[in-house]
Amino acid sequence: MNDAFAQRRTAGTIPITLVTEKGYAAWRRKEGVSVREALRRSGFKAKPGAHMVIPAAKGPKSRVVAVTNDLPDLWALAGLPNQLPNGSYVLDDELDPAVATRLAVGWGLGSYRFDRYRSEPAPAPAKLVMPKNADRGAVEAQVDAVSLVRNLINTPAADMGPPELADAAKQLSVGFGAKLRVVRGKALKEQFPAVHAVGRAAAKAPRLIDMAWGKPKHPKVTLVGKGVCFDTGGLNLKTGAGMRWMKKDMGGAAVTLGLAHLIMSAGLPVRLRVIIPAVENNVSGNAYRPGDILRTRKGVSIEIGNTDAEGRVVLADGLALADEEAPDLLVDCATLTGAARVALGTDLPAMFCDDDTFAGELSAAAQNVTDPLWRLPLWQPYRRLLDTPVADINNAGTGGFAGAITAALFLGTFVERAKTWVHLDLYGWNDTDRPGRPRGGDAMAMRALFDVIRRRFGES
Ligand code: BES
Ligand code: MN
Ligand code: ZN
Repeated sequence: MNDAFAQRRTAGTIPITLVTEKGYAAWRRKEGVSVREALRRSGFKAKPGAHMVIPAAKGPKSRVVAVTNDLPDLWALAGLPNQLPNGSYVLDDELDPAVATRLAVGWGLGSYRFDRYRSEPAPAPAKLVMPKNADRGAVEAQVDAVSLVRNLINTPAADMGPPELADAAKQLSVGFGAKLRVVRGKALKEQFPAVHAVGRAAAKAPRLIDMAWGKPKHPKVTLVGKGVCFDTGGLNLKTGAGMRWMKKDMGGAAVTLGLAHLIMSAGLPVRLRVIIPAVENNVSGNAYRPGDILRTRKGVSIEIGNTDAEGRVVLADGLALADEEAPDLLVDCATLTGAARVALGTDLPAMFCDDDTFAGELSAAAQNVTDPLWRLPLWQPYRRLLDTPVADINNAGTGGFAGAITAALFLGTFVERAKTWVHLDLYGWNDTDRPGRPRGGDAMAMRALFDVIRRRFGES
């Protein structure tokens, strides 16, 4: 557990009063003259996100007023752990359980630090006493899962290559009693030839991570994550700017591991499987080339139009494996295309789904837990953009239009038996600092996916 929360309330714990923007004037009127004076002198503006430490008239006992939006939403208090003076705080109102839980999650997400490589640790965040009505288990699971994903993404590729990503899956498996299988070397080349082809040029050998948990009789939920630990583009080398942040190209894999953490810690009655093709897309004399035609697990041949469209190639074998046992739900997560970012920007993962009912449920869940995403179409006519005369499919679309859609259609080629398939093309990264969302890796779409899975498969 991270250090966002205080063990218990003590004499030094500082109360925080929550006031909505609309309720602020009425609240102030009820306060004593010394509080009103302090607010007036400081020129306090009651906007959502604003807070003020109100010194006590006498003695050390100060308090805090924090202004929120009407809901208040997930991010309402997420700025406070960094803004308040070091110490422990408690929310002094009796809150509705859903609100208490949500605010505590936001506080936890705002307390995240990535200081593994710093000589001086980052300043410690202010701590919150877990609100009385909050679902402590849910808060801790959510904060831990998001922190896990962020740590995996933020860790540089030198320390988060295919072997280290497999180690992370191992650690998670041990923690929850899941079974883990890691395929590499000759077996990988035989059973997952596309994964091997993409990953063979790197100094750290490619592998296929396959984790299973839960009872066989329960509905099968399978997660497939793009585990490209670094994406140089391969022989179709990226530019310096294009390569700069490509340590995050295992963001999809990170999200599947974080989601697995949530599912297993909630003990959902599902048979969970997580499949991660883990590779580094790099350059060397034995690198796969433009024009190569790859064999895949499914038997579909892929002509390589561009070695930088590597994610879909490794996912082809991962999805084929997943699809073999006809799961009830097949989810894949991937930092797959720049085109999805052009369409929807950095904050909105693109969702593709062959099941309108499930797509609706996922969109509603995304709203519900403040983890937004947006649906794009699996527009079959664009499949022609992947046609090639020399193989079954090309990995890069011609013309450059609808790049997120053609990538999704490519993946769909390897999914035939799953009852419901959903593909998330996500950015996995915050380019700017916002309360609760520090610059760096992030677990986009994970909480939305957990919410929809919990609602659909939650009751045994
Ligand atoms: N990992 C990238 C996509 C990406 C780039 C995601 C930047 C987020 C930020 C992916 O492997 C890639 O390079 N895709 C190419 C595909 C193209 C060559 C068909 C792209 O989107 O340009
Ligand atoms: Mn690429
Ligand atoms: Zn990539």
